[in-house]
Amino acid sequence: MATRVLTASPSQLSGAILDGRYKIEGFLSHGATARVYLASDLATERAVVVKLLSPEAAEKPGFRALVAREATVTRRVRHPNVVTVLDEGVTSGGLPYLVMEALPGEPLDKLLARKGRVKLDQALKIVREAADALAAAHAAGVVHRDVKPGNLQVRRGPGSELAVKLLDFGMAKLSSEETHRDDASTVLGTIEYMAPEQIVVEMVDARADVYALGVVLFRLVTGHLPFETDAGPMVLRHQLFSPIPPPSWLVEGIDPQVEALILNATRKHPDNRYPTMNAFAEDLDAILARSARVETRPLSRAPDMYVPTTERGREALRVLSQKFGPYASVPPPS
Ligand SMILES: Nc1ncnc2c1ncn2[C@@H]1O[C@H](COP(=O)(O)OP(=O)(O)O)[C@@H](O)[C@H]1O
Ligand SMILES: [Mg+2]
Repeated sequence: MATRVLTASPSQLSGAILDGRYKIEGFLSHGATARVYLASDLATERAVVVKLLSPEAAEKPGFRALVAREATVTRRVRHPNVVTVLDEGVTSGGLPYLVMEALPGEPLDKLLARKGRVKLDQALKIVREAADALAAAHAAGVVHRDVKPGNLQVRRGPGSELAVKLLDFGMAKLSSEETHRDDASTVLGTIEYMAPEQIVVEMVDARADVYALGVVLFRLVTGHLPFETDAGPMVLRHQLFSPIPPPSWLVEGIDPQVEALILNATRKHPDNRYPTMNAFAEDLDAILARSARVETRPLSRAPDMYVPTTERGREALRVLSQKFGPYASVPPPS
């Protein structure tokens, strides 16, 4: 992986200047709710990145507030492995935007698209840095809720050290907040990396990020997702009800300790996972330093099944069953 400076494509907005200060240079990415541009800050002459709410999203109720929210939440988590938000504003056309430091390198999803998978040692280091970033978020009372390769920017630093920055707090939530069914950000997200409790819009805490980071590690070391099918509803069912397959079923010669780490992180029931990101990071460190053996952790709730704990969760499962068939049957209330 060479160190890449950011390459932006031409865009209709190229040359536009926001608030007399941020000159759009080119287009970087188009997501579900936002467009991301490379820009230059005319005041500091530095490269910055502007994330602008897309006009389509701006029409939907609740979405306009997402950008300011993302800025506020990201600012709470100051950490070397977390992107820094510099400013925010509203365009003359009324679209909210935020301004961030421009991170060189590339998102991990692009790297995976080129390479298929990543060497074990590199994979462990990438995930170790992401775990640091997430532990800082959790300590600041923030759950990210959208941990996936596209939200991890990776680059080689001097001396070929890998540097990772966590991006995109667009779906993040403060742990003190209730999750509301109509919370615009909860209906978005990537189910391939999503913990069961998040899929059914229940209480989500740091352990949902542990789950997602476990899936990222699975993806990095095997080159595959735990559940790969073209049929979205099948992925959803598997995420809810099937145990994650041991990575060694896909790739021979996986270190059994790395396998244990991944399986411990991705259990269906949150009580069966690492209780905190720091506990996950401790086991990861033990593997990196070869200081202690990492084993599969005993289940606190056996068998490992996801059981909704609230009426809302049970209702979500009922709706999913009606939509996608009886496999998604509702376990009895515990
Ligand atoms: N600060 C940044 N520096 C460099 N690239 C960025 C930055 N922020 C976002 N990007 C690029 O834009 C993509 C989408 O950004 P993200 O914040 O994840 O938006 P979305 O909410 O659309 O997913 C990222 O995968 C990354 O490639
Ligand atoms: Mg993103």
